Amino acid sequence: MSRHVDTPRVTAPDIRARKGGEPIVCLTAYTAPVARLLDPHCDLLLVGDSVGMVLHGLPNTVGVTLDMMIMHGQAVMRGADRALVVVDMPFGSFEASGGQAFVNATRVLKETGAQAIKMEASGPDIGETIKFLVDRGIPVMGHVGLRPQAVNVDGKFRAKGRTREERVKVLAEARAADEAGAFAIVVEGVDETLAPEITAAVKAPTIGIGASAKCDGQILVTDDLLGLFEWTPKFVRRYADLKGVIDKAAAAYAADVRARRFPAAAETYVLGGKPQRRRVAGDGKRG
Ligand code: KIV
Repeated sequence: MSRHVDTPRVTAPDIRARKGGEPIVCLTAYTAPVARLLDPHCDLLLVGDSVGMVLHGLPNTVGVTLDMMIMHGQAVMRGADRALVVVDMPFGSFEASGGQAFVNATRVLKETGAQAIKMEASGPDIGETIKFLVDRGIPVMGHVGLRPQAVNVDGKFRAKGRTREERVKVLAEARAADEAGAFAIVVEGVDETLAPEITAAVKAPTIGIGASAKCDGQILVTDDLLGLFEWTPKFVRRYADLKGVIDKAAAAYAADVRARRFPAAAETYVLGGKPQRRRVAGDGKRG
């Protein structure tokens, strides 16, 4: 039985229609509970392949698999009712041909229920692959500039747009993604003056990360914004210090356990005798 939802979900054409309008709010999500918390505030939730680094402790995104993306996509779809959910295509799942991209993207959409995919497509074939999918009914979000999946070619995560050659290449890739029908384009890690140039050159809304406030929308990795890491890239603004909160909570719990202060009477069952002082929701089960 399907869940009743009052608010219709944002669609890829809705996002595309926001070009030049109110900024589009996007964040990454990888789990159902976090998606549920972010959903009321966001237009778009990206199940980014950053999940490999953020949740799985990988050194970069190259090792992320299609199965991992599908599992996290399913979780996010269980948590989000309103925002458009976009699932990233991992490295190796789309580069060989339009056919390969189509087979894997349809798997993502069918198995997760998400409505769109994102591809860090690059090079001369970028437009062809995107068009192949769009023509066959798959909304595609492009991704230009710093492409984390290219880390082994670039040598490190490095912002783009230092040289004229680099600027021309990034701009050309954005144009190709646009002409191929991408409904939005992530512009990551580029010179601050290049992002508005791309934004002006394409019909699709640009979603900046480490780019410029002049993009049509912004995205951040949620765990960065929440302050879960010691180190974050320069472009991140921390809106919370969850690392500190978790550290304090874990230290307080450890101290209570060691001093036998936890569990106390209110946190234990007294069965068959006096009535319990506090009902534990769901008889202690989660769900
Ligand atoms: O994988 C990811 O989270 C991304 C965003 C940072 C744009 O691609």
